[in-house]
Amino acid sequence: MMKQLVAFAALLVAVLSKENFHGHQVFRIVPKDDVQLALVRVMEDILDLELDFWRWVMPVDVRVPSHSLQVVKSYLESHSIKYFAMIKDLQALLDEERRQMKSVAAAGNTDSFDYTNYHTLSEIYSFQDMLVAENPKLVSKTVIGQSFEGRPLNVLKFSTGGSNRPAIWIDTGIHAREWVTQASGIVFAQKIVTEYGTDSALTEILNGMDIFLEMVVNPDGYHFTHTNNRMWRKNRKQNQDSSCVGVDLNRNWNAGFGGRGSSNNPCTEIYHGTRAHSEPEVESIVKFVESHGNIKAFISIHSYSQMLLYPYGYTRKPAKDQAELDQVAQKAVTALASLYGTSFRYGSIIKTIYQSSGGSIDWTYNRGIKYSYTFELRDTGHFGFILPANQIVPTANETWLALKVIMDHTFKNPY
Ligand SMILES: *[C@@H]1O[C@H](CO)[C@@H](O)[C@H](O)[C@H]1NC(C)=O
Ligand SMILES: [Zn+2]
Repeated sequence: MMKQLVAFAALLVAVLSKENFHGHQVFRIVPKDDVQLALVRVMEDILDLELDFWRWVMPVDVRVPSHSLQVVKSYLESHSIKYFAMIKDLQALLDEERRQMKSVAAAGNTDSFDYTNYHTLSEIYSFQDMLVAENPKLVSKTVIGQSFEGRPLNVLKFSTGGSNRPAIWIDTGIHAREWVTQASGIVFAQKIVTEYGTDSALTEILNGMDIFLEMVVNPDGYHFTHTNNRMWRKNRKQNQDSSCVGVDLNRNWNAGFGGRGSSNNPCTEIYHGTRAHSEPEVESIVKFVESHGNIKAFISIHSYSQMLLYPYGYTRKPAKDQAELDQVAQKAVTALASLYGTSFRYGSIIKTIYQSSGGSIDWTYNRGIKYSYTFELRDTGHFGFILPANQIVPTANETWLALKVIMDHTFKNPY
């Protein structure tokens, strides 16, 4: 009896501590002009509504908790702003995602690893160690720092020799809930290992350059999306003078820090933190990039919206290499589309999405890393952050073709 009681209490704690999204819907709002868009943005500041913006551009996607559904609908209707419920039952999608994750079997090596499923943080860490153990001549692991909660910030280094060769940086998972990005990072790592020696373009690149891959930039946030709240975006910083947790790690960089498209309110999803590089997850990359000194391409991967973007986000001033960055982007999205016809838009951040300040690739570009890009992977909003697991490998495969275009261009155009 006592045992059952304890088990029941444990279950209760698990159920209570895990945020559930029963009755939440994701609205796609289609403002017809900037006036309507501004009216939509007004809702963002009404914190009681607890709206969670998934996409700030037109069309706008927003998660609406059940207690706010009526208010939001009336507001939009009273202003004749078009919208529809894109995800009618968010919790049902999340339940399905969980059900599929339960089918993951523990893998003893990278061949038996289930690339078609989402994985916990510890599964990803063990994947990294297996990959290193199986390919000691090609892959090594560097711990570049520790997260706010003390987790290791692991970077895989793919190198065929030399010392401090020019390098390509790729990161996934700076925003916790963008699960298809961490999952794609795993696939990229596996592809590098299998394509080296078989794919001539990648072999050439790796004979001259190193590749660094940080698959989980935000491990605390990622862990939290598994244990507590699947919709978590920021890190898990305990902010001073606020009960709201977390800093948006892609607003924390020293490039237009604190400007428009970021917030000084810790309770928002785009809180920039107390100062540039205040967050260990960001500072560790900054220190790594600065001490390495020879990074030639920096590619940061997000979801969703299907876009390939280059600087700037914080200013309308065009990047001085805009013409070249644009050409390479066009080539990259063409390669991407060649696999399944998935279409990506491309351009500067500020012109293609919105003004956003303190982003990583603006900082790397200003530091002299010419080939600074950011991706927004699948989809365009049908599932948003809850992209079904059967799209992981297709998403990674098509993105890999675009990454290879950027890497190849970087390799062939030394600077
Ligand atoms: C993805 O690419 C791998 C090769 O890296 C291939 O074996 C696999 O069949 C591809 N999967 C899909 C769904 O295209
Ligand atoms: Zn993101």
